[in-house]
Amino acid sequence: MSILSGKNILLGISAGIAAYKTASLVRMFVKSGANVKVVMTPASKDFITPLTLSTLSKHPVYSSFTNEEDDNAMWNNHVDLGLWADVFVIAPATANTLSKMANGTSDNLLLATYLSAKCAVYFAPAMDLDMYKHPSTMSSFNTLKDFGNIMIPATSGELASGLVGAGRMAEPEDIVAFIEKDILDKLPLKGKKILITAGPTYEAIDPVRFIGNHSSGKMGFEIAKAAANLGAEVILITGPTHQEVSHTLIQTIPVISAQDMYASVHTYFKDVDVAILSAAVADFRPKEVASQKIKKNQPTLTLELEKTKDILASLGAIKKNQYLVGFALETNNELENAKGKLKRKHLNLIVLNSLNDKGAGFKSDTNKVTFIDDKEVVTAFKLKSKAAVAKDLLNKIIEQIHA
Ligand code: CTP
Repeated sequence: MSILSGKNILLGISAGIAAYKTASLVRMFVKSGANVKVVMTPASKDFITPLTLSTLSKHPVYSSFTNEEDDNAMWNNHVDLGLWADVFVIAPATANTLSKMANGTSDNLLLATYLSAKCAVYFAPAMDLDMYKHPSTMSSFNTLKDFGNIMIPATSGELASGLVGAGRMAEPEDIVAFIEKDILDKLPLKGKKILITAGPTYEAIDPVRFIGNHSSGKMGFEIAKAAANLGAEVILITGPTHQEVSHTLIQTIPVISAQDMYASVHTYFKDVDVAILSAAVADFRPKEVASQKIKKNQPTLTLELEKTKDILASLGAIKKNQYLVGFALETNNELENAKGKLKRKHLNLIVLNSLNDKGAGFKSDTNKVTFIDDKEVVTAFKLKSKAAVAKDLLNKIIEQIHA
């Protein structure tokens, strides 16, 4: 899955011959799963038609502040367009448009939108070689880079003039690859390894029966997805669940019992930066596991249970620089109990779920949590989707590990 999937990409086209390549560029952005809108300078319509671009992007194409052929035309709002974008790509970016961007001129919709956009702005220059080398153009590049805009350098080759040299717009596939890499390199968890446990554990009674619990694994899987989307390499150790995830940065390791989970967690823990233990691990397991199916030829059955190992506490006891997060599911004296667990298990952060909160807990898609960190800073959240809770949790961890 491309990092561009689900992102709003605004493509700004200015009037250079390379504009003909933007049909492929729009197609590639759409194929990567992005939502694409196009804003053009009026002169660029001589190089490629808005109809081609609106058909490929599946959105109307904007090129003026109003639609001149329509008396009832709505104002094309550059502010809305600029704020809609997660990424603004100006390709081709001509010397004229770059100079106007550098100087704050806003005499067309593309330029006004540029001034309104708060997102990352990429520009892919395209012009003839002497224009590309001109001090005025160099000055525009430098000013725009100082603004924080990102240049996708032009390549060398035969130019439309017949001259050979630098100034050719990067190829559409290279523009897409450049932006994907740039976004990935800047993700806040890039280079971090995160271990996550999820789901229930099953403790065997005999070959066909087990003691389990109602954990769906949703919370842990959402944390894994959110961490991977922020650039982390994720090791997801999960008990039996119906959850599925497919992401190049997530390695899923299925386990069954608390003992399997303990062993697996300890295999990976030494190499990770963060461990988030959200699994609902069984606290007890049958002391003896019958090798044959237990028959119902007796009126009662007594199982002797023994404690499983507390995985979280075992990590707290050996951790070096790892940031360790535990969960606490409480029914009474919630804050005090959670604070006690945080200290006892040497955690950096504990996520408290109260069974008294409606919509929180095992099977639902929502959760209501409170974070308590090792400085006893308590942050309570309202009821949210588990995906939103996962994002809150990772933001808190990012804030703490970068502090
Ligand atoms: N946990 C664990 N290994 C266990 C049991 C729990 O790693 N054998 C982890 C859970 O993944 C969770 C945290 O411990 O992150 C809290 O579990 P919980 O059952 O709420 O607390 P306990 O410490 O087991 O205490 P108690 O049952 O007394 O509330």
